[in-house]
This record gives sequence, C-alpha cells and structure tokens, in this order.
Amino acid sequence: MVTSCEDEEDEGQELASVSDIEALGNQPVRLAIGTIDERVALSSADLALQNGAILPSGISRDSNLNLDGLPNSRHSSLSQPDCLINNPPNISRIRRVMFECKDPIEISLVEFETYWPFIDNVWVKQRSNSSKEGHCTTDYYMCRLRRPTHRTSETRPLPEGKRPRKKRVREGGICNFQIKVVKFEGAYSTVTIARTPGSSRVHSHDLDYIDKVKRNSGLMEFARREAVKGYLPSSIYTKFQEEPAKLEEAGGKFFTVTDVRNVSAKWRIQNPEVKLVPHDGYEYQKGHGIVRKRGSGSDSDSLVLSDAILKSSLPPDTLSFPQFPLDFLEPYLPKHDERRHLPHVTLSYASSMDSKISLLPGMQTVLSGPEAKLMTHYLRSRHDAILIGVGTVLADNPGLNCRLEGAGGYGGLGRMWQPRPVVIDPTGRWSIHPECRMLRTAVEGKGKAPWVVVSPGARIHPQKLMMLKGYGGDFLRIMEYNQDWRLRWEAILRALASEGIKSVMIEGGGTVLSELLNPEYADFIDSIIVTVAPTYLGSSGVSVSPDSKRDKEGKPNAALNPKDVRWMPLGQNVIMCGRIRTERPFTSNIE
Ligand SMILES: NC(=O)c1ccc[n+]([C@@H]2O[C@H](COP(=O)([O-])OP(=O)(O)OC[C@H]3O[C@@H](n4cnc5c(N)ncnc54)[C@H](OP(=O)(O)O)[C@@H]3O)[C@@H](O)[C@H]2O)c1
Ligand SMILES: [Zn+2]
Repeated sequence: MVTSCEDEEDEGQELASVSDIEALGNQPVRLAIGTIDERVALSSADLALQNGAILPSGISRDSNLNLDGLPNSRHSSLSQPDCLINNPPNISRIRRVMFECKDPIEISLVEFETYWPFIDNVWVKQRSNSSKEGHCTTDYYMCRLRRPTHRTSETRPLPEGKRPRKKRVREGGICNFQIKVVKFEGAYSTVTIARTPGSSRVHSHDLDYIDKVKRNSGLMEFARREAVKGYLPSSIYTKFQEEPAKLEEAGGKFFTVTDVRNVSAKWRIQNPEVKLVPHDGYEYQKGHGIVRKRGSGSDSDSLVLSDAILKSSLPPDTLSFPQFPLDFLEPYLPKHDERRHLPHVTLSYASSMDSKISLLPGMQTVLSGPEAKLMTHYLRSRHDAILIGVGTVLADNPGLNCRLEGAGGYGGLGRMWQPRPVVIDPTGRWSIHPECRMLRTAVEGKGKAPWVVVSPGARIHPQKLMMLKGYGGDFLRIMEYNQDWRLRWEAILRALASEGIKSVMIEGGGTVLSELLNPEYADFIDSIIVTVAPTYLGSSGVSVSPDSKRDKEGKPNAALNPKDVRWMPLGQNVIMCGRIRTERPFTSNIE
C-alpha cells in the first residue's frame, strides 16, 4: 500500500477534491469497545442493516425465526442443495468470540439470531428482566459447568419397560463464567452480550469441553431438517461426516449418530408410519452401514464448491488474513487488560528513505508492498480508533477500515475489528459527502463512520451534523488550545478516552506526525511502527520530521530516539518498530 490511503487505489477511485465533497447524514454514536485479537466493536449504527443494504457476511436480512425459535433461511445465499451443514460465515471464529466474551459484543438482532444457536450449548439461563416499557430485556446466563447435574431421584418409579438413563453426574461450580444478554428493541435493535460483574474473566475450560458435553441447537437444527424429510439417522450422519471441517467449525467435533437418532426419534413419535430411507445416491452396505453409491460424485468436489461459495460471498476488496508471522509487532501493540487514563497511541506510517510520506502535498503515493499493506490492516484491527489530519482526508479520501477477511463486513460479525476513524479538522474544512469513502464504507457495513474533531469556533451546519450522525458518526468539540492556538493533543486523547477508545493508531499525515514526534508529546505516544520503502521521493515530498533540538549548551542534538527498536524485513519494505514513551503510562481507574 501506501499506508493510510492504500485503500483507494484498489478501487481505482479518483482522489476527492474539496469541491467534490459536500455534507449530509446521521445517528447516535455509541462507544467502541475492542478486545485484543478477536475484537468485536459495538456497531454504532447498523445502518446497513436498517437500510437493507448488504449485510456483513451474506446473512439474509429477512431471516426470521421459525416455530422452534431457530433462524430460518439463514445464509440462504450460501446453501447448497446437497449440503447439510450450511454454517453462517466465520462461524468458528465467531463461536470463539461469543464463548470468550472478552469485551462487550454489540450486534444486530439478525446477527444474534444467526449465531447464538451455535453457541447456546455453553449457557444455561438463570433469569430474565424486562424494562417497564418492554423495549429492553436482559437475560442472565451462567456457564453450563457452573450448574451441577443431579442423579435421577431413586425414589421416583420408572415407567414399565424403561431402563434408567445413563446420565453423567457433574458436581457443578467448575466454571464461574456468567454473562448477560441485553436485547434492545427500538429504531436500531441491538443485542449486547457482556460478562456480569460477578463473573470470572475467563472460562476454566475450553470450548471443546462444552461441545463434548452438549451439542448446540444450530447444529441439531441441521440434523432435524434432514430427519423431518424421513431420512435414516445413519444416512444423515454419513452425510454430516462428509463435511468434517464444517462440522467441526459449527461445534460438532463430538457429534455422534446417537445425536441424529435422538432428533429423528422425536419426529417419529408423530410420524410412526413413515419408512425411513437413505439419501439419494446412498445405500446400505453390510459391514459399512450407509455409504455413498459408487460414481455418485466425490466428496472433494462438494468441499471445493462450498469453499468457493463462501469466498464468493465476501466483498471483492477483501484482503486475506496475513499468513506470515506478525508476532514481532506484539510488544508495541495495545495491551488488552491495561487500565489507563489515556489511550494507547501508536504512530504508524510509510516513509521513503528520505523520510517523505508522499511525492507532493496532497498527492497519495504508494510506498508499501502487499505484505506491508496487510500488516497495516492488521494493525488497524488491533486499535479502537485510527486518527488522521484533515490534510490527509482531503488528499486521499481514505476508507480507514480494516479489510482483512474476518473483519466486520468482510465475513465477520457486526463491526468486528473495525476501528473508529477520527479526523482532526479544527475549522470544518472537510465537507463530508455521502459519497466519500468513509461514509460509503459505513453504509456498506464495512467500517464505522468517522468522528470529526473540531475547535470551539468551527461552524457546523445543523444539517451537516444530522447527516454525519445519521451515518453513525459525530463531531467532537475540543475546548483546549496550546500556546500556538492548536488543539491540545492531551485534550483530544482525553476526549477519545471518555468515549471508550482505549487505543489509537495515528496514520498521518506529515503535519500531525511531525508534531507528535516532538519531545513534548513523548509521554503520550507509546509506539512507532514505520514501513520504510526502498525509494527516495525527493525534496518536494511531504516530510515527517520533528523540530530540531539542541542540548543545554546549545549543541545540536537528535530530536528523538525511539527505544527497544526492532527492524523486520517484510517483502520489499523494512518495518521499524520502537517505543517512544519512557515512563509507564499514567494509569487510573478509568478502564
Ligand atoms: N505515507 C503515509 O503513511 C501517509 C499517511 C497519511 C498521509 N500521507 C500523506 O500526507 C499528506 C497530508 O499531510 P498534511 O501534512 O498535508 O496533512 P495532515 O497532517 O493529514 O493534516 C494536517 C491538518 O490537520 C489539522 N491539525 C492537525 N493537528 C492539529 C492540531 N493539533 N490542532 C488543530 N488542527 C490540527 C490542521 O488542519 P487546518 O489546516 O484546517 O488547521 C492541519 O493543517 C498527503 O499527501 C497524504 O497522502 C501519507
Ligand atoms: Zn465455563
């Protein structure tokens, strides 16, 4: 890429000029909360869902509940006639996110109804509350392993001919993980899943452990749909086994033929006269049970096909998740559990050998190779917000989202991994237009709408305010200036912290970066991650360079020396990581 603005060139889109842009749009801003690797952002505006635009991950908008309370026609676009396991996209990752519940997860009702059945085996409901007006219901759940299972009372007589069920007894109290699921139904219906205050931070076991104890109802629904067509349980089971990867992703690692027999038997009570049959193309073979008839198509064909269908449901600008190691970045990234007063700040940009970030002011310049571009998107996924100056917005019209496969809008849930774009625009020079990339990205469910930081004197037309809010963005007015009548960075960072932002990646441009590399800001900046490109852009380029410094005797001195430096080759680039802040961050009880 390029870095901040790599986005555009992929779409061959022209850079926006000031005259192109006008303002409009809006909706209430909620806070972004992210976890470290599996970040699930509160989807501030599910505008894409509300407007019936493309849902993240091909989920059908009008999917609603069937009589069993399970999603109907979920991911119908993905279903294949011969395929029994029609998992919603990214089910494996999303099951893990919903199991771990590291941070509150806010999703749309449709997404909740799609994914919850695949994780409901973990939870046992304790109680429910609803608000007086009935708009908000809260269900409290505990981990299944918290509840003991009891022996069947020996005093109760069993019906004639019935053997006692062999039920395993569990002591209970093994895991103290508890969550609440808050459903809010209004103009923007959302569901928030969060740990309760009394819960432990993590489960005392992994997800496999639960999948072994109990099957989830999403998976059982796949079996039920086949059973009600009158197929033999062993035939259904054989077909399930033909898709081992999908079965495992849906939590079916320990799925047995007995599970299918149980659902089938329930249906048979009402339909005893139906003669159960194997699927077309399958037959009973002595010693092997139900098997596929010879010459009736190969398993690998159907697997390849289903993979292709899944891939084709992702937007064309999806980037594959980096397959090369990025752990060298870890020491420089925000720590998940750190409680701090101000957000973690990472400066990240791409620079030429002569420390230029673009050929000319206002000219987007490609400096990152494909690997560094993936790294930038990975870094975006690891921060709650991405901040740039208005100069960069006007020059590059960036989308400022994360386009890695698995991010919200790219196969992920809600606005998962999507950072909040923040633009410093003190006088309101950016005339935000619905066609600008940041708003288009938000409408398409592929990112969040921006927050624009303005000075007290900025005149924001109410219509512009309403327009931005309508897209899920907002204006943040900062009241504090420094001696040069520039907005105080500390005040900007404090305002972001108070809006729930725990980490910010600052991507540019030259003015913003050069200012923040001055020693007076060293206490606010945690890390710097620079992509160095093997090129000289020349002296007319936009520089990143802090003010020159002198020591007490007046001798010229280096302006800034990052600590704990690491250089890592990445394709044609080298990545320089370093630490700037020397002291531990000022921590407080603000989370
Ligand atoms: N290679 C890379 O990694 C990379 C990344 C990003 C951008 N870029 C390039 O950088 C260039 C843009 O850089 P730039 O220096 O022109 O613009 P910029 O740094 O993006 O924005 C500068 C403007 O932001 C506002 N601003 C920043 N800090 C402020 C503060 N503390 N208080 C008040 N206002 C503040 C000011 O707006 P006002 O003038 O309205 O007061 C200032 O002029 C583009 O060519 C772009 O392609 C390259
Ligand atoms: Zn547990």
